[in-house]
Amino acid sequence: MLRQDAPMKMVVMVSGGGTNLQAIIDSIKNGQITNAEIAGVISNNKNAYALKRAEENGIPGRCVSPKDYASRKEFNEKLLETVEAFSPDLVVLAGFLVVIPPAMIERYRNRMINIHPSLIPSFCGKGYYGLKVHEAALARGVKVVGATVHFVDEGTDTGPIILQKAVEVQQGDTPEILQRRVMEQAEWKILPRAIDLIANGKVQVVENRTIIEEEDAL
Ligand code: GAR
Repeated sequence: MLRQDAPMKMVVMVSGGGTNLQAIIDSIKNGQITNAEIAGVISNNKNAYALKRAEENGIPGRCVSPKDYASRKEFNEKLLETVEAFSPDLVVLAGFLVVIPPAMIERYRNRMINIHPSLIPSFCGKGYYGLKVHEAALARGVKVVGATVHFVDEGTDTGPIILQKAVEVQQGDTPEILQRRVMEQAEWKILPRAIDLIANGKVQVVENRTIIEEEDAL
């Protein structure tokens, strides 16, 4: 898909702590992600710790908050404009908890990815985000959970799946403990891995599925 001479330029979109952003930054530094750089970080929340991580790593950070706009339409336009200003090859939703404007989905079709903290199609779709996903998994009593990286389409968590990784639930897990394990064992591995695959032209989308070239074991 994306194979080019210059490094792939990414915009990473965040809302909170930014541990997935950190995993991307670290993976670029240690060479697990090649041919890619972060051009900018965009948050909908000015207090997101993720913006601090960006600053500490010399990455331009921007905040576009719905609170600062009179209507959703104005916010959506400003959000897309802020993304476009970085001319990214890939948009990475790393814990970005805002509904993506349809114009942005169209503009970045098969060039925008999301990390979701469950094994899609379990515990995904409207209302399933952040800790709620882990609360629901524990309430249902499943024994295996995990995370998914997928391309973003018009549905909620319905786009082509790129990578998934399973994680075991343990006796006595709380939503917080489970969330942390899913991050450590799955999210922080598969998100950088998916970015590296895309940056090196190894991911192809065919209808609603992906074909991954030469995938090594995670
Ligand atoms: C992560 O667990 C991510 O999978 C989730 O938000 C958290 C952000 O953490 N995303 C969603 O639930 C999207 N539906 P982080 O800010 O520390 O990366």
